[in-house]
Amino acid sequence: MAKVVVDIAGKRPYDVRVAPGILQNLGEALRRLDRNPKALIITDLEVAKHYLNATKASLEDAGYHCSVITVPSGEEAKSVECAAEIWNAMADCKLNRDSLVVALGGGVIGDLAGFTGSTFMRGLPVVQVPTTLLSMVDSSVGGKTAINLEAGKNLVGTFCQPLYVCADIETLQTLPEREWACGCAEIAKSALIDSDDFFFWLCEHADQLAARNADVVQEAVVKSVVFKAQVVAADEQETKGVRECLNYGHTLAHAIETEAGYGVYSHGAAVAEGMRFAARLGVACCGTPLALVETQDHLLDELGLPALDLQADPERLLDLMFSDKKVRSNTLRFVLPRDVGDWEVVSLEPDVVLEHLRAWQQSLSCADQA
Ligand code: NAD
Ligand code: GLY
Repeated sequence: MAKVVVDIAGKRPYDVRVAPGILQNLGEALRRLDRNPKALIITDLEVAKHYLNATKASLEDAGYHCSVITVPSGEEAKSVECAAEIWNAMADCKLNRDSLVVALGGGVIGDLAGFTGSTFMRGLPVVQVPTTLLSMVDSSVGGKTAINLEAGKNLVGTFCQPLYVCADIETLQTLPEREWACGCAEIAKSALIDSDDFFFWLCEHADQLAARNADVVQEAVVKSVVFKAQVVAADEQETKGVRECLNYGHTLAHAIETEAGYGVYSHGAAVAEGMRFAARLGVACCGTPLALVETQDHLLDELGLPALDLQADPERLLDLMFSDKKVRSNTLRFVLPRDVGDWEVVSLEPDVVLEHLRAWQQSLSCADQA
């Protein structure tokens, strides 16, 4: 079993465990950290079908008294209404500051349980049990929690590190292909930003990751968690210009998702396209080698994240990027790769971005006709 410790100055360090089959030992692992016998499992309907019984049995065998709250699957659950329902359930269950909240599911459940747990009675300990590839490699680690408002995604949230993260990679066996590709996009992002070692290892093993080879999946998750742990240790609250690197590919991705309509392209497909665009922008703005663009394109293809066939108005995409809540000035900030393992944030004027969006759209339509 692999263990990665997330050690943030001034915070209690926590373990991220990654291995097949560890869900059955979850209760025992938690009892070693915590003596309070009460736990609330928060999960969604789809995940509950597969993994709720095993999770509950593991906790109960270790002496926990468990309550369960199940929400609908999907992004809609990150709502004020669901959060209020969960806070009320927490009150009904008479949870106190020692009770555990167990987030069993993907990033939606992780964010929702993390947010409600970190705010109820000013904060209960939250255990993350990620069951999607994306949540194992990204959202379960680092303590960002959030729910959505009509005005935008993730507008209300907290920074609150979990007590423990249990990534049982066996749970990924039931993950749909589209969700798999979402996790692969985040792994590719992490690898490129992190280092030659991670990136070229991933290039060599991309087909095996796409085919869900268990050893390769385990190693990809561990490498991603090690990377994320380093980033959040350096810049927990995204104030030091380090955590921003995790936005590589995401500036354009959010605009693509909104323009196409949520759900038309998966988040991973949009991030992959955003990475393709950002690398090309890098060639023009910070000397990114063309070889990086080509190697990254090939990697994304191999991971099942082909270039999109989106035909969108570049001016509209530009407007959408400016309406993102993170934009604070008249320029757009892009994380660009100077090289593998070397990145910078570049602020670009709208007309420069527009010119590149036009070139990118032109290249997509040429590829379409080819
Ligand atoms: P998700 O949680 O919606 O899960 C995707 C789908 O897969 C859901 O329908 C779910 O029911 C199903 N599912 C989950 N595990 C399964 C399994 N093992 N087998 C079968 N089906 C399973 O989506 P996600 O991609 O995991 O997370 C996306 C969310 O994560 C977004 O809301 C995003 O904002 C958030 N996020 C947060 C952070 C962070 O740092 N907090 C980082 C990245 C993303
Ligand atoms: N996934 C973005 C972050 O954790 O900061």
